[in-house]
Amino acid sequence: MNLKGRHLLTLKDFTPAEIHYLVDYAAELKLKKKSGEVGALLKGKNIVLIFEKASTRTRCAFEVAAFDEGANVTFLTNSQMGKKESIEDTANVLGRFYDGIEFRGFKQETVQLLAKYSGVPVWNGLTDLYHPTQVLADMLTIQENFGNLKGRRLVYVGDARNNMGNSLMIGCSKLGMHFVAVAPKILFPEEGLVEEMKTLCETTGGSVTLTDDIKTGVKDADVIYTDVWVSMGEEDQMAERIKLLLPYQVNMDMIKATGNDQVIFLHCLPAFHDLETSVAQEVKEKFGISEMEVTNEVFRSRHSVVFDEAENRMHTIKAVMCASLVG
Ligand code: CP
Ligand code: NVA
Repeated sequence: MNLKGRHLLTLKDFTPAEIHYLVDYAAELKLKKKSGEVGALLKGKNIVLIFEKASTRTRCAFEVAAFDEGANVTFLTNSQMGKKESIEDTANVLGRFYDGIEFRGFKQETVQLLAKYSGVPVWNGLTDLYHPTQVLADMLTIQENFGNLKGRRLVYVGDARNNMGNSLMIGCSKLGMHFVAVAPKILFPEEGLVEEMKTLCETTGGSVTLTDDIKTGVKDADVIYTDVWVSMGEEDQMAERIKLLLPYQVNMDMIKATGNDQVIFLHCLPAFHDLETSVAQEVKEKFGISEMEVTNEVFRSRHSVVFDEAENRMHTIKAVMCASLVG
């Protein structure tokens, strides 16, 4: 498999074999790191990380992955791009300095323009529409827990029309998994994408199901997955989302309703499961709730593998960079 020169803008652009390759390559790089071997696959490469939105995992994953394999990085948050300078011109400049570009921000169009005009591989570190590097880490985590991916049932509960809902639906459809979105109808993913994925499933053996019924939706899940109810950039919708999604909170009753004692809980993080943060404190004062998309009990339970999942961000992002820069 040779992915040299490839962008990662959405997993839609990748074949099932290519996605499996990236997940397996990440597992290999994870073992390499754990063995203490010092890497040099990216020696001499320069990488720029553009962040319009906040990040802990994605930024650190790109940086540590790059350092582990000998690359240099620039973290760019206050550039001229989109303000005094067009994305096209910025892409032209950055492509002359750097071997690869990561972008996290609002519009999918921005990451597409960077890819079009930079002449170097571009990686989507999250846009309003997609979060493909997260899904690679999720797939690695599921594979580590169950030994395989095909035929597994991933139930995504909550805001099913956000970047995670979209990207998980794509990832599952590609890999012949069963994707179930459990959400109020108003938060179902966009119809065009759902139809596209259902058609894809005819060839991969996967399936896509949308339901607002929690009990039937979570039954037989291998994975219960949730994400924040309000994504970055949608903060003004907090009150409405809490009203819509409170019944869909992942709690122990929901975990039990899967009927699967071995079910795992995943969350891309950050998660609102307690009151340690300033934003959570604000929510408590305004709306009188202390837990949102997942209860503390589930978050800290034996089902929860969210920190393995977070660690896997680094190994999978390393695989993506090495595959597209070295081949
Ligand atoms: N999951 C994820 O993308 O985390 P960050 O927002 O911290 O990068
Ligand atoms: N849906 C979330 C994901 C964060 C990693 C957001 O876009 O804010």
